[in-house]
Amino acid sequence: MVSIRLIQHAPGAPGLRCFGLGPDLRPSRGLLKLQNLLNKHAFWARGRSRRQLRRLLAGSEAVVSLWRGKRLVGFGRATSDGLCRAVLWDVVVAGDLQGRGLGRRVVEALLAMPAVRSAERVYLMTTNSAGFYHQMGFADAAPQALLVKLRDTASPDSGPGQCCSTASCGDPPLRP
Ligand SMILES: CC(C)(COP(=O)(O)OP(=O)(O)OC[C@H]1O[C@@H](n2cnc3c(N)ncnc32)[C@H](O)[C@@H]1OP(=O)(O)O)[C@@H](O)C(=O)NCCC(=O)NCCS
Repeated sequence: MVSIRLIQHAPGAPGLRCFGLGPDLRPSRGLLKLQNLLNKHAFWARGRSRRQLRRLLAGSEAVVSLWRGKRLVGFGRATSDGLCRAVLWDVVVAGDLQGRGLGRRVVEALLAMPAVRSAERVYLMTTNSAGFYHQMGFADAAPQALLVKLRDTASPDSGPGQCCSTASCGDPPLRP
């Protein structure tokens, strides 16, 4: 049986981002595989280009990937100011491997990484998976409210970072 390997990437995931590196720093076409994983199993992150993914990785202080042999089967990332606030984004496990504890491994690994561990509060947005996060100690944030400002990121002024959906991690147009 092929075991599942978890990688805690350096901030910005330079190996994965620039060279598609996977386990043991081997070239693994990781960025293409990440694109496919998100397209298939993360409805909020469909259609992101590899250029966009590079930019998202570059801006992420914590990045985790899960590999079964050469297959990328899980992913998660976080942004953080390293002191007060961190936010988890794009936590996903391949459909055929869900329900085996892999999502928990991804989240626990993100929470253990220095940039996230040092933050006083860790936030996330989710549409269907609140129960999953409750199991790991996350609580509903009420009375805090989640607000959103929709931007026209298709305009030329916005540059190459435009995103296919309004936010991340399970965020449909207006109601996460
Ligand atoms: C949500 C997701 C990451 C969970 O990963 P997973 O590998 O299936 O979850 P795990 O097997 O680690 O589950 C851990 C626990 O959470 C529970 N759980 C998993 N998904 C859940 C859900 N959607 N709602 C409530 N509980 C859930 C499991 O039953 C398990 O409980 P147990 O420890 O008592 O058995 C995965 O289902 C997924 O990728 N879904 C599609 C993308 C998505 O919605 N991601 C979340 C974006 S915010």
